[in-house]
Amino acid sequence: MQGDLSRPSRAAVEAVLRGLSRELGEHQLFTDPDLLEPYGRDWSGAEPVLPDLVVKAESTADVQVVLRAAQTHGVPVTPRGLGSGKAGGCIPIGGGIVLSLERLNRIKEIDRENLTVTAGAGVITADLMQEVEALGLFYPPDPNSLKICSIGGNVACNAGGPRALKYGVTKNYVLELEVVLANGEAMMFGKRTIKHVTGYDLASLIVGSEGTLGVITEVTMRLVPKPAAIQTALVSFTDAEAASLAVSQVIAGGVVPRTLELLDEEALSVIRKKTPGRFPEQAGALFILETDGATEERAFEDLARAAELCQKAGALEIQVAQDAAQRERIWEPRRILSLTLTESAEAKISEDVVVPRTQIPQLLRAVRRIGAKYGLRTATYGHAGDGNLHVNVLFRRAEAELGQKAVEEVLKETITLGGTISGEHGIGLNKRDFLPLEHSLPKLALQRALKATLDPHHLLNPGKILPRRGPTE
Ligand code: LAC
Ligand code: ZN
Repeated sequence: MQGDLSRPSRAAVEAVLRGLSRELGEHQLFTDPDLLEPYGRDWSGAEPVLPDLVVKAESTADVQVVLRAAQTHGVPVTPRGLGSGKAGGCIPIGGGIVLSLERLNRIKEIDRENLTVTAGAGVITADLMQEVEALGLFYPPDPNSLKICSIGGNVACNAGGPRALKYGVTKNYVLELEVVLANGEAMMFGKRTIKHVTGYDLASLIVGSEGTLGVITEVTMRLVPKPAAIQTALVSFTDAEAASLAVSQVIAGGVVPRTLELLDEEALSVIRKKTPGRFPEQAGALFILETDGATEERAFEDLARAAELCQKAGALEIQVAQDAAQRERIWEPRRILSLTLTESAEAKISEDVVVPRTQIPQLLRAVRRIGAKYGLRTATYGHAGDGNLHVNVLFRRAEAELGQKAVEEVLKETITLGGTISGEHGIGLNKRDFLPLEHSLPKLALQRALKATLDPHHLLNPGKILPRRGPTE
């Protein structure tokens, strides 16, 4: 699949490089293979592909220059935030230019009265969070990669995270986007106001479009007041199915915690080896339950209520973190879980399926059945509160074909259960051939027409999201 997209000719690459050298600084253009190498990969496990050149934009005008030159010479452009994507969305499979936004890393304005932050696309999400929190404000979406991902990348992928249960995902915070279109024109989409209904919602079209419709250069995101108090607890269950039954009970009981993260038997056993002593001995599976509120009482009230509902649903034990250090001891293993699972097997395919939360028990049963059918290990963890689970299929390299088959069955089962094949990582490269499982042919055709309108020459991040049809897609 990768690498068989036709690459630009040597002459085209040389011509675009000559054009760019006239308008950009030497310190912005890179062609040395050693320097190109890190820009050919991401965190998805997809096979790396070397671009022909990397351009580091330092302004919106630079991005315009790159897109105009790319169009003139017919060279593809793969926009890139910080490369932490999990779906291969920024692998430059058509070669050409990787357009890095990492230097657009300035927070331009935090507006306390209007509750907004305006930032360059390359600002690290954790930095943005820290800056607004210092002013008593809060940017809730918390992808686990927050220390190594960019806010522009988050918008491009519509990133989620554990706190999505209470606060929603990136798209719920996007107000206004500066976007450079494939023809080099810069436009503002959306509005900094909370309400805005003029014309089509073009900002929303860009959210989650993974760099295939335009390049996000600047974002204005909505903020909320920072909750003063947080309460965190570990809730143990005999097994994942028992835990999953409790999810709906908590929500139906009228409490929306800020996180309800599940670790199933296999995920727990792998992480226990890496970080011993963090989780109760008797837990077969567990939740990380977290609540927040404007006061300690409010946060604790919600925690107590959720804990009571879990107990009624069969929880074995509940341990409440007593301070920030204990909270960190709980979250640290969760944050490194994806990496730890990768280390635990020769190969891993990690999915981010979503089902209605009432269907989580059925999904877990199906994953177990599929794992047994192919004789492969599976580990499931993640954002159970909102139905978004990371189903991981672990296998030996020689079993790659079985691994793929098992994953395909998990995706099909997800759709049968009323779910979606990606909740937060996107389709990118790795899941493009599975998109037809979820989208009908007319719906795919509609999306191809949108793509053709915004990017008529198929130069913006070619080969992503939409299923492959020919040598230029
Ligand atoms: C997580 C990433 C994989 O939740 O989305 O750990
Ligand atoms: Zn996740």
